[in-house]
Amino acid sequence: MVLKLIVILSIAALTLSCSNQNGQANGNNSSLSGKELYENNCTQCHGSDGKLGNSGATDLSMSVLSDDESKNRIKNGLNAMPPMAELLGSEANIDSVVQYIKTLRTK
Ligand code: HEC
Repeated sequence: MVLKLIVILSIAALTLSCSNQNGQANGNNSSLSGKELYENNCTQCHGSDGKLGNSGATDLSMSVLSDDESKNRIKNGLNAMPPMAELLGSEANIDSVVQYIKTLRTK
């Protein structure tokens, strides 16, 4: 459990330090694709395939939420999921992430 936390924290720290160097921490650069936005901001909990489940994150490959519901969840967060609107930077970026996570669905 402690080890898992350390792993999560170091991934988060790594993500932050990398992103500070190249300025691509988040969606402020509007040229980022939904995939890039997802990889920069979501994989530490959801994993690149959506199945990681860190911090109790929902398996996105099994998600059945509508676009509006996903968007709402991403903007406002829920329980252990933090609100991501500010990090993603714009409505358009949130929309591209919503479209991207649908490609991770397996059902
Ligand atoms: C700190 C960990 C964390 C990060 C970072 C994170 N999430 Fe989550 N996410 C969660 C948790 C935990 C839940 C489950 C919330 C609940 O239902 O209690 C969740 C739930 C979701 C859901 C709802 C899925 C469903 O079917 O119920 C979506 C959609 C989602 N996350 C998308 C994203 C996206 C897109 C990003 C990046 C912009 C992201 N998350 C970043 C932890 C995270």
